[in-house]
Parts: sequence; C-alpha cells; structure tokens
Amino acid sequence: MNRRDFITSFGVGWIASSLPVALAACSAQTTISKDWQSVGTIGDLDKTGQLLTKNSPLGPVLVVGTSKTKTNNLIAVNPICTHKGCTVEWKSDAKKFECPCHGAEYGADGKVQKGPAKQPLKTYAAKIEGNSVLVK
Ligand code: FES
Repeated sequence: MNRRDFITSFGVGWIASSLPVALAACSAQTTISKDWQSVGTIGDLDKTGQLLTKNSPLGPVLVVGTSKTKTNNLIAVNPICTHKGCTVEWKSDAKKFECPCHGAEYGADGKVQKGPAKQPLKTYAAKIEGNSVLVK
C-alpha cells in the first residue's frame, strides 16, 4: 500500500466511522425526547407572543403564548388552513385563528368557528423546558 492509498483508505474509513456520531449529535439538537420536538426558543416566542416554525419534524407549527404564561396556557396548532392550505393567523384580541384567504375562523382549540373550512386545525401539546419551546 503506497502513501496515497493509505491516506485515501484512512480518510474514507474515518468519515464512515464518524458519520453515525455526527448524525446522532445533530438529531439530539432537534429532538429533546422521543415525543417532544423543539420548535424554537422562548426568546423567539416572547418577541411577538407567537412562534411559527414551518419545517419542524411535525410539519408546520404555530405556538401562541409567552414564557411568562403557565405552560398549559400555550396553544399549538398546525397553521395550515384545512380549506385550501393558506397559513392562518392568530388574532389575540379575538382569541381565534383567522385565515386571510377566504375568511375561515378557528377557535383556540382548533375547531372551526366559521367556514368555508370544515375540518379543524390539528392541535399539539406545548410546553417550555429550559430555553426551548416543545410540542408533541
Ligand atoms: S384557504 Fe383558508 S379559508 Fe380558504
């Protein structure tokens, strides 16, 4: 084995043996436990009282609340309107989600309050743990 073959073999072997460790380290940052998924930080949530994460492991998630409220006051839904797929907006004064496209309205529990949507928004449990906002 010449020097070039040794370096090539060693380099490929090192990368192959390190890959599982690197992948595990990356997944540990986004997965807190088996069920709970981190969707952001309390700093992000507290800026506006809303935290929209479009690409969480659960799909799109909108969390409403602040870290100053009790954890069980957090609201988390999939914000994709069940009518035709627009992203709903939280109206804090009315305590409901409204769709800007065709006017559907959903309660804080995700249930339809006004059509044209017929199916509720998917809801998630949410909590704060350390500096992270978690949903499942
Ligand atoms: S897409 Fe939301 S009401 Fe039509």
